[in-house]
Amino acid sequence: MRASYSCPVDERERFLIRYAGSFAPEPIARAEGAWVETASGKRILDFTSGQICSTLGHNHPRIAAAVRSALDEVVHLNSWMLSEPVLALGERLVGLVPEPLDRVLLLNTGTEANEVALKMAKMHTGRWEVVGLTRSFHGLLSGIASVNFSMAHAGYGPVLPGSYAIPAPYAYRCPVRHCDGACDCTCLEVGFELVDQQSVGALCALVVEPVLSAGGIIVPPDGYFSRVRELVDERGMLLLMDEAQTGFGRLGTMFGFEHDGVVPDLVGVSKTLGGGLPLAATITSSAIEQDCYDKGFLHVTSHVSDPLPAAAGLAVLDVIAEEGLVERSAARGAYMLERLRELQAQHEPIGDVRGRGLLVGVELVEDRDTRAPADALGAAVTRECYERGLSMNIVRSQAHANCFRIAPPLMVTEEEIDLAVEIMDASLRAVREPAAA
Ligand SMILES: Cc1ncc(COP(=O)(O)O)c(C=O)c1O
Repeated sequence: MRASYSCPVDERERFLIRYAGSFAPEPIARAEGAWVETASGKRILDFTSGQICSTLGHNHPRIAAAVRSALDEVVHLNSWMLSEPVLALGERLVGLVPEPLDRVLLLNTGTEANEVALKMAKMHTGRWEVVGLTRSFHGLLSGIASVNFSMAHAGYGPVLPGSYAIPAPYAYRCPVRHCDGACDCTCLEVGFELVDQQSVGALCALVVEPVLSAGGIIVPPDGYFSRVRELVDERGMLLLMDEAQTGFGRLGTMFGFEHDGVVPDLVGVSKTLGGGLPLAATITSSAIEQDCYDKGFLHVTSHVSDPLPAAAGLAVLDVIAEEGLVERSAARGAYMLERLRELQAQHEPIGDVRGRGLLVGVELVEDRDTRAPADALGAAVTRECYERGLSMNIVRSQAHANCFRIAPPLMVTEEEIDLAVEIMDASLRAVREPAAA
């Protein structure tokens, strides 16, 4: 696969452990806004926002300024010492979430934010069975990874006992073979029936993404989360929303959970909070925090409550508010969806286009009747797009990798969206009809 890219591989790659297949063909030397530039000067439109973190675009000057002043003031402290950026960011985050969410713990990664939320849920409820959705992704360290049902179990030994999956509301390929195109939540009811029959009576929490991203941009139908809240409450479970990708505007709302007006018990935010720096947070209520505190809750890591990333997080929240990026995401997302639906009308292999805000999936199929996943086409088009200057992810869930995940920075322009759609169009044509291209 690697050989088809037209630039040479840096031979120093051989000193690195490969953690996710192969690396991109050429090192990146610079990045700005929606663009990255390779060492040899090739400019690439980054429609993955890095790892979905650079929602303000790459190297936003306000983040750079915040980091510079943190370097002059204070970078890192003993975990029991607080600093102005940490106190200010805690207060700002509480101001953004609904009651009774009013307590924040500042961490580094999305995995950690979810892990801490689960630890608190277990300590608070005294239970330990955790439910996730098929096609979900919540992080790659053992505890939370037990409820990653899209990938990454094979080869790493046992998952935690009491980890259960319910079917994801994937309307294009209904997991319970009931709906076609519009989910009526039968999968959710069936899923909880299965959970009830497997549970040993220690149901603790349901962990869920507002839109399932790595599993193929699965957008739950309206009302899904209201029903989730009821089902969870009936069982005395807690609801943990994983807003790693969706928090702070990606879906056209400040948080994904706002869509159904549901208030979770615990929230994990991460990628989109640091704007490219490692910053994450677990958010919960005083009731849960106090109970865990009384029971001796412990989560001390080297970089808990570090001032430098917190200063970056404050800059991210300032820019989101000042530049109206939440509203911008809703408007540009609608535009992008429309442009991609026009592209679908011209390309038979585009079986489905779905998304919310600036998180959009384009699913490729062999033909629209059988809907057989077109994995090879997906890989070829991704490579062709990269050659032509557009970086996009193809996401892998279970056996297949046939859905583009398109997630540009929230400040993307309509012209950049048009350019990306043009490159996708040309790449699809070049791969499908090489002679004509
Ligand atoms: C929804 C979701 N949750 C959690 C994570 C894990 O975050 P991190 O890689 O920062 O640990 C990811 C990463 O892709 C994610 O997409």
